Amino acid sequence: MTTIQRRAFNDAITRFWSFAAPAYDTGCLQRLVYKPAQDEVVEQLRRHGCKQIADVACGTGILATRIQQELRPDEVYGLDMSDGMLAQARQRCDRVRWMSAPAEQLPFEDGFLDAVVTTSAFHFFDQPAALAEFHRVLTPGGIVAVTTMSPRHSLPVLHALSAGLGAPAHAPTAEAMRKLFVEAGFQVEDQHRVRRPVWTPVSDLITVGVKPA
Ligand SMILES: C[S@@+](CC[C@H](N)C(=O)[O-])C[C@H]1O[C@@H](n2cnc3c(N)ncnc32)[C@H](O)[C@@H]1O
Repeated sequence: MTTIQRRAFNDAITRFWSFAAPAYDTGCLQRLVYKPAQDEVVEQLRRHGCKQIADVACGTGILATRIQQELRPDEVYGLDMSDGMLAQARQRCDRVRWMSAPAEQLPFEDGFLDAVVTTSAFHFFDQPAALAEFHRVLTPGGIVAVTTMSPRHSLPVLHALSAGLGAPAHAPTAEAMRKLFVEAGFQVEDQHRVRRPVWTPVSDLITVGVKPA
């Protein structure tokens, strides 16, 4: 995708999520689709004892608020491109710092954070650019935890079709995800399918990387 196509794609995604924001917090949608991935991320942050955490593409702020309330780190930042989603996030919690920013261009100095997390949004990103940005803003030893839709096998037909429409499907396989992490400079520490208490048609993956010290 060229820069102009990427900008148009980001604009379309932003418009869509601002439109969808009011329906997003529906209880069963959250429980079935989004919460299991968020549970995995909270567990990783707790295990690593992270203190300066950014939740990228935070949506309506459910995960960032949980991180703030359950883990009590020094600071939690919630970032998204959609004003509609951020408006709901601001109403949810005033102890998280909400910011409007794309995943590919974060408003932090080099090495400022010790954790970057993102759930159920990575498929929308320019993935190499976002991972390079996560690496830049992390301190050595900091972690990145990404949950993303991920087919169990690569889907070349789907990718070709969506690429033809100007927006290549970005749901990487586990192997492709590890490759993206390594190319961005991370050591892959953990990777597994998101554990779901009941069957859902969602097939997603968590990958955790460390910026080498
Ligand atoms: C399905 S929602 C997920 C929200 C939240 N992470 C969760 O788990 O509930 C996807 C979010 O990604 C955001 N988004 C998509 N592309 C983005 C990008 N390149 N940078 C920042 N946010 C983005 C959308 O605005 C939307 O709020």
